[in-house]
Amino acid sequence: MSNQAQKNIEELKQKILDHDYRYYVLTDPIISDQEYDMLIKELENLEAKYPDLISPDSPTQRVGKDLNKNFSPVQHTIPMLSLANTYSEEELLEFDRRVRAGLPDSEKIEYVVELKIDGASVNIRYVNGVLLNAATRGDGTVGEEITANLKTIKSVPLKLKNLTSSSYKLRDIEVRGEIFMKLEDFLKLNKEREIAGEKLFANPRNSAAGTLKMQDPRVVAKRKLSMFSYTLISKEDKLISQFENLNILKDLGFVVNPETTLCFDIKEALQICHKLEAKRESLPYEIDGAVIKVNSIKQQGILGNIAKSPRWAVAFKFKARQAISVLRDISWQVGRIGTVTPVAELEPVFLSGSTISRATLHNFDEIKRKDIRIGDKVIIEKGGDVIPKIVGVVLAERDKKSKPVRPPSKCPVCNSGLFKPEDEVAWYCENSECPAQIRGRLEHFSARGAMDIEGLGEALINLFVEKGFLHSYDEIYNLKNHRNDLINIERLGEKSIDNLLKAIENSKKQPFAKILFALGIRYVGIGAAKKLAISFNSIDDLISASEEEILEIHEIGESISSSLKNFFSNKSNIEIIDRLKSAGLNFNAEKKILKRGVLFDKTFVLTGTLSGFTREEVGDKIASLGGKVTSTVSNKTDYVLVGDKPGSKIEKAKGLGVKIINEKEFIEMLNG
Ligand code: IVH
Repeated sequence: MSNQAQKNIEELKQKILDHDYRYYVLTDPIISDQEYDMLIKELENLEAKYPDLISPDSPTQRVGKDLNKNFSPVQHTIPMLSLANTYSEEELLEFDRRVRAGLPDSEKIEYVVELKIDGASVNIRYVNGVLLNAATRGDGTVGEEITANLKTIKSVPLKLKNLTSSSYKLRDIEVRGEIFMKLEDFLKLNKEREIAGEKLFANPRNSAAGTLKMQDPRVVAKRKLSMFSYTLISKEDKLISQFENLNILKDLGFVVNPETTLCFDIKEALQICHKLEAKRESLPYEIDGAVIKVNSIKQQGILGNIAKSPRWAVAFKFKARQAISVLRDISWQVGRIGTVTPVAELEPVFLSGSTISRATLHNFDEIKRKDIRIGDKVIIEKGGDVIPKIVGVVLAERDKKSKPVRPPSKCPVCNSGLFKPEDEVAWYCENSECPAQIRGRLEHFSARGAMDIEGLGEALINLFVEKGFLHSYDEIYNLKNHRNDLINIERLGEKSIDNLLKAIENSKKQPFAKILFALGIRYVGIGAAKKLAISFNSIDDLISASEEEILEIHEIGESISSSLKNFFSNKSNIEIIDRLKSAGLNFNAEKKILKRGVLFDKTFVLTGTLSGFTREEVGDKIASLGGKVTSTVSNKTDYVLVGDKPGSKIEKAKGLGVKIINEKEFIEMLNG
């Protein structure tokens, strides 16, 4: 078993989890769906090569995502799965081959092709024809109760029609469908938000998902959401086919998407997919592909599911939408850790619901590889409709006199030198006092998910840096001493400054993990920060920990541990932390308070799958009672907690004489 492979897998898993958090909890993704799929594929490939290293908490092994804490959890009676994606005709034919291989030879297979609506899925339960409750998909097993919000959507019937005339028993049913926002309503909403100075939604899907999770149903009602229903589940009766189910749903009063076709084989299904793709631009809502489902419910049952998706259905993803524009210039942006990133300045062009005037070029190597030049006609794509990128150049129309782009030799913001680590493609500004880095660090520090200081966004930070009030993030807590000066800055009234100062004071209550994340240490995303906070009592323990001790933590790899060491070896970072401590920030893990917890000072290693907890939950539980979880069994380990299908750790524990406990014994331990 390769140690390096294990580290790679662990870091990749952590990266994916951090993107999941941004996407599902913050609804603020920073990579496209396609880039995300590529990370998952990379992990799947590595895990296929080293099957021993597949852990039950790997993103490939679960449907799951994090949940927003403000809604009560609802257990789905039948898991809400996701769909595997196909991107080509070949992959779709391969799906058909797998379906046929999974069914008896004589079976006739029909497919239903539907649109893949780009929204958020929900599950609604109706008892005796009345809407009882509704939940988001959540992690696929447990969703969030959003009944009040869902009831505001006009296309969701509160009471069903024609219930008694149906030949099926439908007194206890669940209906699933996609909540979405029409393009027109999305554009209108974003316009309003722009005028109000609020953050814009990246796409209609995010705006639908974000709206469903709002605390006030009255605001939800004002935002026009719609639903297309596509799944019917009866608790009392056997249903026959997906196509018939869609007709039953229509009879019951649901809106079913009209672009739905029953096909007699995969060839016909593929033709329909192409037809739907051609229709894409004329639809008033966003779709990102088609869904191909085996029509017979009985066959669906025989085929069953693999880990997180059904074997009887697949998504056929459409090509990302493209537009052509002119590259007016390339600007170089400097990020919070000094990365110098080229940004394409484009002639504005409309694509997938928004006007694009900038696109990322990732790094200089990419410009070189694609030979992108200023003045070129360039092809722009919005992959997962998040960040537009340039995918190519219309070479035939290139100006003969154009010259290849040269990278900057100095930092475009502070004029300091640049350096490029050997194993990276990115160039970095060497001056950590570069104003762009300072602004970036401050923005990250106060952002949602970190210190969550409402009102302290990009614009104010720029202003405060420019006026000399802010330089490092500890100075945020000094702003209250400059209240009068701040009020006197043009445009900023007394009320808004007082609200800001209140939000700053409030942020002192943020837990250790979020502060650790807010420090902006390279590679330390929120997931890693949580793990570090659970494993160490305080920032002081973390600062004095050796790299080996840090590496012992489950899913913390070398790039994180050496980045932490690097950060803490810088004297000015330690001084900033000291000043944040004096300001009253909490650099102690909660477990310190629970020092006398029943698991105080006990070290656990987990192996196998537990039935009642996820790994994260076990980790949190152990930490809250004073213990910690590490990834390798050693003579420092007190207990190895064993679930279903344990790995080789159990043998190692036996060899070292470490106590092995099962889930039941663990629960007894928790209860003291
Ligand atoms: S069927 C197991 N049908 O796509 C079957 N899903 O990746 C999954 N979606 O979570 C649901 N349009 O949010 C189904 N016509 C459609 C759909 C659809 C959009 C979404 C849904 C689901 C995701 C699966």
